[in-house]
Amino acid sequence: MTSTPLDLGHALAKIWYLARANRLPFITMTKNEQAIDVFSSFKLGPLHLPNRLVMAPMTRNRAGPGDVPGRVSATYYVQRASAGLIVTEGTQVSAQGQGYARTPGIYNEPQVAGWKTITDAVHSAGGRIFLQLWHVGRISHPSVQPGGGIPVAPSALKPAGQIMTAQGMQDFVTPHALTTTEVAGVVEEFRRGAANAKRAGFDGVELHGANGYLIDQFLRDKTNQRTDRYGGGALNRARFLIEVTEAIVGEWGAERVGVRLAPTNPFNDIADGNPAATFAVAVNELSRFGLGYLHIVEPLPTDPIAAGEKPDIKFFRRIWRGTLIGNKGYDLSRVNAALRDGTVDLVSFAALFLANPDLPERFRRGAALNTPDRPTFYAGGEKGYIDYPTLEG
Ligand SMILES: Cc1cc2nc3c(=O)[nH]c(=O)nc-3n(C[C@H](O)[C@H](O)[C@H](O)COP(=O)(O)O)c2cc1C
Repeated sequence: MTSTPLDLGHALAKIWYLARANRLPFITMTKNEQAIDVFSSFKLGPLHLPNRLVMAPMTRNRAGPGDVPGRVSATYYVQRASAGLIVTEGTQVSAQGQGYARTPGIYNEPQVAGWKTITDAVHSAGGRIFLQLWHVGRISHPSVQPGGGIPVAPSALKPAGQIMTAQGMQDFVTPHALTTTEVAGVVEEFRRGAANAKRAGFDGVELHGANGYLIDQFLRDKTNQRTDRYGGGALNRARFLIEVTEAIVGEWGAERVGVRLAPTNPFNDIADGNPAATFAVAVNELSRFGLGYLHIVEPLPTDPIAAGEKPDIKFFRRIWRGTLIGNKGYDLSRVNAALRDGTVDLVSFAALFLANPDLPERFRRGAALNTPDRPTFYAGGEKGYIDYPTLEG
């Protein structure tokens, strides 16, 4: 039988699809596609993930004095070490990058030592763990800023609403707009945070570019009204993200760096006139690094979306050639469908991993799931943190 041009085109498209998804083409295609589900392994750069379930980053406000993560956090992460990959809670790269009480840092030696205890424990339990590098920008309050100072942002625009502080909910303040020179200083803070994460024994890092925090504030036209090279068109607004990514990749190599974006999440008073255009430019710029993954917080059907094309997960599958992690509101059947049709390579779970330390095993057995206890999400000590039961009790 001779191959027609149509057959050839189809075969090439198939090889492209498998290569894009990091799947090896020497396994027969039909068999391989059938084998893909949440329990199939995945090669993430140099890492072998035993399953496709990622523990999504979750702020839990349980760090000890000096914002050093403590032993209780080691227990929390070890309990969840059966995840294909753990992404830690957002971790500030500087004191100024902190927005809430008791979030851990990665900018001094005690914090590096605290995290090292955790990465050692997770590795001993057979897990893999990335640190999420975080700077909150204007989503902060003088009560958590060094010297009671004013938070920083791309522009001096006060977020609407209030922020949770140790003294209860308080109004946001008008942030200080970073000067062009000061922006370089923040890029350096991210670089140092990435270098510290390496010394702390992580397997890689994820840059928190989502949910209305500093990177997102630079990306969006609602929060970025700068007139220097970091403001204006989408390419300029993406410049900070790209410079930070470049700095982190310089420390880690691209394969161990992921980036998280949330193009449709209105959280933290963030918005953009045309998110599809903004994020197409940003992702196109990110594409040149060969990063480990892109992690997208997806819209729910009920989320408000600005005018224009909807930048949902399929949109990113079209424009991103590397590993893609989907997130938000998944259940097991949706995960498997999205993995099989190639929409995503991995899926992350937040609330369900919080409440089910043995989530992969529960999925495997089709077991009932614990219900997340919202009042203890961001406070509560060991309660709601390390006391969720496993199937084994
Ligand atoms: C308690 C809690 C803390 C969170 N903290 C972070 C965080 O530090 N960094 C981040 O990127 N997203 C954070 N998120 C968002 C989650 O990673 C995720 O995008 C969201 O919960 C939707 O996923 P889910 O439907 O699986 O819960 C947090 C979510 C929860 C519930």
